[in-house]
Amino acid sequence: MKVDGRACRTIWREPGAPAVQVIDQRDLPHRWRVQVLRSHEQACVAIAQMWVRGAPLIGVTAAYGMALQCVADASDEALAHARRLLDSTRPTAVNLAWATRRMHEALLPLAPAQRAAAAWTLADAMAEEDVAVNAAIGEQGLAVLRERAAVRRRDGAALQILTHCNAGWLATVDWGTALAPVYRAHEVGLPLHVWVDETRPRNQGASLTAWELAQAGVPHTVIADNTGGHLMQRGQVDVVLVGADRVSARGDVCNKIGTYLKALAARDNDIPFYVAVPCSTLDLGVDDGVAEIPIEARSPREVTHISGRDAHGRIVEVQLTPDGSPALNLGFDVTPARLVNGLITERGVVAASDVRLLSRVPPAPGTAG
Ligand code: MRU
Repeated sequence: MKVDGRACRTIWREPGAPAVQVIDQRDLPHRWRVQVLRSHEQACVAIAQMWVRGAPLIGVTAAYGMALQCVADASDEALAHARRLLDSTRPTAVNLAWATRRMHEALLPLAPAQRAAAAWTLADAMAEEDVAVNAAIGEQGLAVLRERAAVRRRDGAALQILTHCNAGWLATVDWGTALAPVYRAHEVGLPLHVWVDETRPRNQGASLTAWELAQAGVPHTVIADNTGGHLMQRGQVDVVLVGADRVSARGDVCNKIGTYLKALAARDNDIPFYVAVPCSTLDLGVDDGVAEIPIEARSPREVTHISGRDAHGRIVEVQLTPDGSPALNLGFDVTPARLVNGLITERGVVAASDVRLLSRVPPAPGTAG
């Protein structure tokens, strides 16, 4: 996607050096900062502290983390250690373990001297694949949005989409998952407008989704997290479209905290609730998502404090809560499959209960994983 008119991805190789560069998302939309990752430890910090975030981007960053480890020490022990460390940075997004496993399994059969070159090649391929997968999700989701517009907006008025958190290009290498269909629809001239949940406590909607959509010229409005249900009751939402961090074999969807409440409100108002995911986000090893998916608990400080830009352009953090009030900060919740109208994947749109069928669908060209 473009930033100030220039094509940009979220992660790329530093030319001529065994290093990668990432957009530091902590300060967006107020400050543009790029960080260089030169070791797997730095990749771990970038993931844990959310310089990079979003399930697919976490996965690709971890893949590069494995490549960085190979440069320093490509022994069996070093690789196993790096994989363990990377896997422990964030527990919920399954793309992380998917990526490190894929790297590890490809590297182990090679002689240590061959591993670094192979690791960079595979990590690069995984980054490219992520772009292709998300572009394919964009095409699949475009059909869903077109169909919805034909039902709800016969008058040609803008299709009203509600999204939660950030599942745009910043959450991936490029394009995004839930926002890929939005960008495609905007490109082809389908009139649309996006309601952007602010997504407390880290405000990925207010800061990242709003910024992305503004950069792409997509009409949008930021709303407080509690506004969506009311808008749905008033007929001001035609479809809810979110991403996911993990989808279980029965189709339960784990996504940013607050997603479940949106799905409940959508069902109560007969509004379709779609989840856009790459197949790398499916976890067939988990059946009951509510009971089995590990939910990340983050620092209470993300709830008790908030940061933003002051009148002098400085990024400052202020305290919201009384001194001493305890806070709980759970990063994700699980929406049961019965509340999900469909999964939009690179291999097609399926009912949430049909997750297993996806493994039988051949991957689109350039998206094999
Ligand atoms: O904690 P984050 O910002 O990494 O969480 C990301 C999300 O939960 C997104 O909503 C997203 O859908 C998953 S990544 C496309």
